[in-house]
Amino acid sequence: MKISFHGQAVVQIVTEKHTILIDPFITGNATCDLNADDVQPDVILMTHGHNDHVGDTISIAKRTGALVVAPNELAVYLEGKGLNTHPMGIGGAHEFEFGRVKLTQAFHSSAITDEDGTHYMGMPTGILFTAEGKTIYHAGDTGLFSDMKLIGDMNTIDVALLPIGDNFTMGPEDALIAAEWVKAKQVIPIHYNTFPLIEQDGAAFAEKVKPGQGVHLEPGQSITI
Ligand code: NI
Ligand code: MN
Repeated sequence: MKISFHGQAVVQIVTEKHTILIDPFITGNATCDLNADDVQPDVILMTHGHNDHVGDTISIAKRTGALVVAPNELAVYLEGKGLNTHPMGIGGAHEFEFGRVKLTQAFHSSAITDEDGTHYMGMPTGILFTAEGKTIYHAGDTGLFSDMKLIGDMNTIDVALLPIGDNFTMGPEDALIAAEWVKAKQVIPIHYNTFPLIEQDGAAFAEKVKPGQGVHLEPGQSITI
């Protein structure tokens, strides 16, 4: 499978039969190389309800008919906008035709502000996605938490996508500890340099991770596993 990074928390996973897009914040994301009118996911996975994650989900899912898998309250909200959704909760896993999704905890917040006000979207999450014998951990937006050790013990993680932006999520120092705890074969920094408050050096972070483990991807770059 091919895993590509597209700025902020936008990650695309292409398997033999499916295109899975995570947190497609494209419009208004200056670091994103994608075009919201061109992407062709058949599945969208969501970690939480903030705009820099929900992004273009509604327009993309309406155009492509993609199934949107999201934490329960966010799924209900998006279903109300006419999308085809599948609600999940933390700790729950489900075998889909495109792969297995399990939601993990994340320590953060989750809300959407629209024309009717601010709507709380329940708990934010991380995602464990397994397909073709590979497991990817997208941590979502989170601070460091010690159950990342449990996530590392219970799963053989091939690729971990960890936020390093600081301020709203883990910064690089805490993400280095997270990288150790989740024991992923490869660790890719995400959620930085999208706006001034979360400026970080992704290449420097990748070098500080255990040799051979850290992978710095510029938006648009990918790895194949
Ligand atoms: Ni957030
Ligand atoms: Mn965010």
